[in-house]
Order: sequence, then structure tokens, then C-alpha cells
Amino acid sequence: MVTVKVVTAHEMKGYEHYIIKHVLLDSNQKFLDEHLFDPTKDSAALSIFTLKDYSGTLYVLSLCNKHDIWLNLAEV
Ligand SMILES: [Fe+2]
Repeated sequence: MVTVKVVTAHEMKGYEHYIIKHVLLDSNQKFLDEHLFDPTKDSAALSIFTLKDYSGTLYVLSLCNKHDIWLNLAEV
């Protein structure tokens, strides 16, 4: 089992400016999971993903409502 913790250091200022979601992709950039944020409730852009079994490269997309998308990766 693999636990992936994703944090985007970004404000969560209601619907004005916030992280919409985190998307987890596999080494072929195929969709694995995503976590949508509720800017009226979530005070931090933090996601915990749990994968049954995975090794290799993981890509994470972090999507802001104003500033588009960021990509990061990790080896597990
Ligand atoms: Fe932003």
C-alpha cells in the first residue's frame, strides 16, 4: 500500500482564489485519482491518496482557479 500526501502551498480564499483539485497520474500520465476541494470548508490544499500497490513515477497536478495548473512528480 502506498500513501501519497500532496500539499500545495497556496491560499484558500473562498471562491475568489483557491486550489480546485489535485489529480494523481501514473507514470504514463493516466488518471489514478483526484481530490476536489471545497473552498468554503477546506482551509488548506492537502490531499491524501491511497494506492493499493504502485511503484514508479507518480505525477500530481494542482489546479488553481486563477493561475492554471502545476505539475510535480515523485518516485515511489
Ligand atoms: Fe493561484
